[in-house]
Amino acid sequence: MLQSSTHWLARGAKLAALASLVTLAACERPPMQSEQSGFRGTGMVQVVNPRTLEDKVALNAVPMATPQAPAEGPKASQIYQNVQVLGDLSVGQFTRLMVAITSWIAPQEGCNYCHNPANLAEDSKYTKVVSRRMIEMTQNINANWKTHVADTGVTCYTCHRGQAVPSQVWFKTDHEPKGANFIGDKAGQNSPAASVTLASLPNDPFTPFLLGDHAIRVNGTTALPTGNRSSIKQTEWTYGLMVHMSASLGVNCTYCHNTRAFSSWEDVAPQRVKAWHGIRMARDVNNQYITPLTEVFPANRKGVLGDLAKVNCATCHQGVNKPLLGASMLKDYPSLASGAK
Ligand code: HEC
Ligand code: HEC
Ligand code: HEC
Ligand code: HEC
Repeated sequence: MLQSSTHWLARGAKLAALASLVTLAACERPPMQSEQSGFRGTGMVQVVNPRTLEDKVALNAVPMATPQAPAEGPKASQIYQNVQVLGDLSVGQFTRLMVAITSWIAPQEGCNYCHNPANLAEDSKYTKVVSRRMIEMTQNINANWKTHVADTGVTCYTCHRGQAVPSQVWFKTDHEPKGANFIGDKAGQNSPAASVTLASLPNDPFTPFLLGDHAIRVNGTTALPTGNRSSIKQTEWTYGLMVHMSASLGVNCTYCHNTRAFSSWEDVAPQRVKAWHGIRMARDVNNQYITPLTEVFPANRKGVLGDLAKVNCATCHQGVNKPLLGASMLKDYPSLASGAK
């Protein structure tokens, strides 16, 4: 009897140890470091883990650029048959960009990922049609969203990183409609999802804010509560987006806000203004460029609701406050900067 109860005790202790390991797996190992990022006394500090930072540096390394090709000589539009966007480049510049695009999007598959090798002018592969629009999209970001990307800009690599489908994208979620269960519309809550760092927040904060333009602001603008019609539920949607923004950039809320008043624009970091433009830019990309391509893509690239993979903050940022830790690849590929359409 005694023997068997000690046996169970030992087993219990083992189980407890195992359970604590499982629960602690979600925590980061100390010591952490904190850096002041706002004015003194405002508590605007960033808590960073030097070990996860090392991984991020590796993830955000920039591939080497090939030497520039001469601008002289015949233009691509004079030599090739079906060049609709990049026609002003010299043949040398055009070929250099094709080689770079191949290494950014389809390094294993090569040119044939987009081309029929028997006829490079043909638009028979959807990947080529998509790429042409992606070139225009990249030019639009670089030319018309300098309020966000500055002169640093973006290239295909900022999102794709050597993969045909960028690793950080989002689809609409099929959250249970009204009447599917006794609680009613759960709005994607209590269904842990990485999109909101497993918090019990609406797990698709992207459809309303990065596709639609629902109001993000929820604080009252007057002292009395009567003027504020926002519900706790609406606030939870806003928090869902904010948690995503923080996680995508690897920062705390205080990177942008002085938490004395989340709604205030007066004593905030300039990054909050950048983020405001970033939200509008992501919306523009999703509505003007990606969604209109829906019919071009095959079914296996679509989500459960038939939509395409779309862009959010993580698509470019991948865990750091500036994509690729602030390095500009655009300066080596100036043809992706202009030609805004
Ligand atoms: C990720 C897709 C993609 C890959 C990979 C790619 N291309 Fe292209 N290619 C395009 C697009 C898009 C165009 C049309 C550009 C335009 O309309 O301005 C194009 C056009 C061309 C043309 C012009 C053909 C004509 O007569 O109209 C040539 C030549 C070409 N590519 C060569 C290459 C070579 C060589 C490689 C491999 C080193 C390559 N491409 C890899 C997307 C791609
Ligand atoms: C802002 C981020 C972003 C940038 C910049 C970007 N893309 Fe994309 N790309 C996406 C997203 C999101 C998809 C959608 C993936 C899906 O639905 O499967 C995509 C899809 C594609 C696909 C289809 C791949 C497949 O296998 O289905 C190709 C090809 C492509 N992009 C080429 C390019 C090229 C070439 C450039 C640069 C001129 C570029 N992209 C720049 C985000 C980006
Ligand atoms: C990268 C900058 C950034 C980070 C990080 C950030 N926010 Fe925000 N936040 C914004 C911006 C920009 C807005 C305004 C959005 C708009 O109106 O389009 C906003 C709005 C809000 C609002 C609504 C304010 C109002 O006027 O009603 C709340 C609440 C909020 N954030 C909370 C948070 C919390 C909590 C965190 C951390 C989990 C956080 N934010 C992280 C930039 C940021
Ligand atoms: C198309 C790619 C792309 C997307 C999508 C994107 N960003 Fe950015 N972001 C950039 C680039 C590039 C920079 C660097 C600009 C510079 O060098 O000043 C940047 C810079 C920032 C900064 C300034 C960081 C600092 O330390 O100064 C903030 C804040 C920011 N982004 C927030 C966001 C938020 C929030 C979202 C999503 C709503 C978002 N970004 C989506 C490309 C992107």
